[in-house]
Amino acid sequence: MSETASEARRRRTFAIIAHPDAGKTTLTEQLLLLGGAIQIAGQVRAKGERRRTRSDWMKIEQDRGISVATSVMTFEYAGQVFNLLDTPGHEDFSEDTYRTLSAVDAAVMVIDAAKGIEAQTRKLFEVCRLRDIPIVTFINKMDREAREPLELLDEIEKTLALDVTPATWPIGSGRQFAGVYDMAHSTLRLLGEGGERDEPVSGLDDTRIEALLGDEQALSLRESAEIAAVYPEFELEPFREGHLTPIYFGSALRGFGVKHLLDGLAQFAPPPSARRADTRVVQPEEEKLSGFVFKIQANTDLQHRDRVAFLRICSGKLKKGARLKQVRTGKSIPVNAPLFFFAKERQVAEEAWPGDVVGIANHGVLRIGDTLTDGEELNFRGVPSFAPEILRRVRLDDPMLAKKLRKALDQLADEGVVQVFRPMDGSQPVVGVVGQLQLDVLSSRLQAEYSVPVAFDGTSWSTMRWVSLAAGVEDRAVLERFMRAAPSQVAEDHDNEAVAFFSSDWSRKRAEDEWPQLRFLALREQH
Ligand code: G4P
Repeated sequence: MSETASEARRRRTFAIIAHPDAGKTTLTEQLLLLGGAIQIAGQVRAKGERRRTRSDWMKIEQDRGISVATSVMTFEYAGQVFNLLDTPGHEDFSEDTYRTLSAVDAAVMVIDAAKGIEAQTRKLFEVCRLRDIPIVTFINKMDREAREPLELLDEIEKTLALDVTPATWPIGSGRQFAGVYDMAHSTLRLLGEGGERDEPVSGLDDTRIEALLGDEQALSLRESAEIAAVYPEFELEPFREGHLTPIYFGSALRGFGVKHLLDGLAQFAPPPSARRADTRVVQPEEEKLSGFVFKIQANTDLQHRDRVAFLRICSGKLKKGARLKQVRTGKSIPVNAPLFFFAKERQVAEEAWPGDVVGIANHGVLRIGDTLTDGEELNFRGVPSFAPEILRRVRLDDPMLAKKLRKALDQLADEGVVQVFRPMDGSQPVVGVVGQLQLDVLSSRLQAEYSVPVAFDGTSWSTMRWVSLAAGVEDRAVLERFMRAAPSQVAEDHDNEAVAFFSSDWSRKRAEDEWPQLRFLALREQH
């Protein structure tokens, strides 16, 4: 096996998806502790984003080094290299999360045992489903009052239409939480003063269970675990296809159950797999390098105003000093100091392999969705844009700054700060966001970095769609006619793709009915 193939096979690149407060930060820390990347809990404190006030956010934006350090966390465990890609906790930045999910091969879904599936869990899960990303589930906070495990499993199955297999089964919850029964290995893993300890048993009938747990808990474990046995056994294939999730119970705060979870990831999560590009399917073990940019972080070093592009490597080996082709422009990009990110620091990487994510410092040349190769003309698709529901008109009081604003918006759209649309009637640009904080970040950066003060005006639009020709239609004149019909309602996006704005679902449906030769899409994959 080639070195590229064996290094690729060792990689596990994943993200954690969770509703805020479910315990993503706490779990991340525990994973890093197990992986030896940090020594004591409490070091990953990019936490509490949701609770931060707006002024805190601005401060963070100005002081962006913090978030870059935790953007990718690499650690080794069980002979494998894990790349944990962090996602912002605040839902206003969920576009960033969606893009990050395009760069992972698996996800851990964290669920609060008292709350079950929450709104944000569900949304993020749907994004994983678009790409059939395999999901390992961690039911957290079992040390608090929790819902019945069967009820939680049932909810996951029903609301997400996902098959479940309990990998472990909890013994009590809240104060009574004593540990879990490992279904596959017939072991009790018990919560003790010094952390976890394993007690092998010969199965659920073993009388040692009484001795270890007492009669009452032994009985209730047996009863509920027997019911749990109705769930199908774990199978790798449906898991890897994203149809079945193994479930682990634990308490991230107590460091309990996390090792089970990590062992599960090591055993089941897939290494980098083949990826579809526009011209062909790319295998990770190919010797030629390819990858795509899914995230840009600006101002990591305020002195130099640099931007770091995060490149997910899909195939081949990246060597320090390589020159890569930016397929979109044909430019050659030097990669003199690819950055690796460990929990707190960054280091220059000598080499990187499929599944790895490296940071490439550049001055605004690279943008989200860019494919980089050793020279081949190919484009990876799959970095998604979703139709934003908050659409605002940029108001610029000083017309002399229009050109500067245009350039600034272009750069910020390259970074994915907001989506930018240019109306066909030549009126002021429109920006689309998921949440208000994105607008705050946009105006503060326009002011601080470009000296362009702006404000935002409301619009009557509540949604937009990307408009293209329907399958089988080749006459571009139809699209042109549509764009001319109501120039104040249509625009071009950052990639000059046509979009249309709508004030209601009703008006959108009417346009769809009136223009059957066009497609109106809520999701676009960048290239
Ligand atoms: P997030 O990143 O998903 O938003 O969640 P985070 O890890 O910050 O956890 C949210 C809150 O839940 C924190 O409490 C954290 O201590 C608590 N928590 C996480 N995992 C567990 C668990 O397994 N059991 C229990 N009982 N609590 C858990 P907080 O009071 O909001 O913050 P802090 O003051 O403790 O830092």
